[in-house]
Amino acid sequence: MKLFVDSADVGELKALAASGLVDGVTTNPSLIAKQGGVFLETIAQICALVDGPVSAEVASTDYATMVKEGERLAAIAANVVVKLPLTWDGLKAAQAFSRSGIKTNVTLCFSAVQAMMAAKAGATYISPFVGRLDDHGAEGMGLIADIRAIYDQYGFSTEILAASIRSTAHVREAALSGADCATIPPSVFKGLLAHPLTERGLQQFTADWTASGQTILG
Ligand code: G3P
Repeated sequence: MKLFVDSADVGELKALAASGLVDGVTTNPSLIAKQGGVFLETIAQICALVDGPVSAEVASTDYATMVKEGERLAAIAANVVVKLPLTWDGLKAAQAFSRSGIKTNVTLCFSAVQAMMAAKAGATYISPFVGRLDDHGAEGMGLIADIRAIYDQYGFSTEILAASIRSTAHVREAALSGADCATIPPSVFKGLLAHPLTERGLQQFTADWTASGQTILG
C-alpha cells in the first residue's frame, strides 16, 4: 500500500521524506491556509521534495474556473495531481483532465455511489474521508471495502486513497479493506512504527550485547 502524508508543512514533509517511505503528499485548502505560505510556491517546494504524486486542490467550484486553476497547478511540476471536489462540475473537470492526461484526485467522498461516479469520470484517485464519517456516526472503513468491491467488480482503475486518517488502527484497517493508498497526518505517520514490545525488546538486546563485551566491527 502506498503511504502519502497529508500536510502542507514543507519542513515536516522534508523530515518525513528522509525516511524513504513517503510515496506522495496530499494537501487541501485548510492545510494550505493553516501553513500560511503562498499556495503555488508551497506546492512547488513539496513537489521538489518527493518524486511521487502531490495533490493540490482547486479553489473554485465552477467547471470552467476549476479547469483553468487545475491547468495552472498541473504546470507547476510533473508530479502534481489536481484535486477536485465531488460535485457535478468537479466530475466534469475530472473528465476533461482525464482526456488531457492530467492526473486527478476527487475529494470529499462519503459514499460508494459517489466513488463509482468519480471512477466513471476517469479520476486517478478517489479520496473517501474515513475519519469524518466516523465523527458523523458512520463506519468509515466500511466505505473503503464497499468501494473496493465495486471497483473490482467493474474493473475501474481509479485508486482508492483512504483520507481523513486519524490513527495507526485506521492505517491497518485501510490496508485490510483494500485501499491502494492512505494519506496520513504527520503525527500519525511518525507513530506507525511505535510498539512498546519493540522498544522493550531493543533495550534488552542492547543491554545483553553490551554485557557480552563483544563488538561486530572490531
Ligand atoms: O486531505 C483530506 C483529508 O485527509 C482531511 O482529513 O482530518 O481534515 O478530516 P481531516
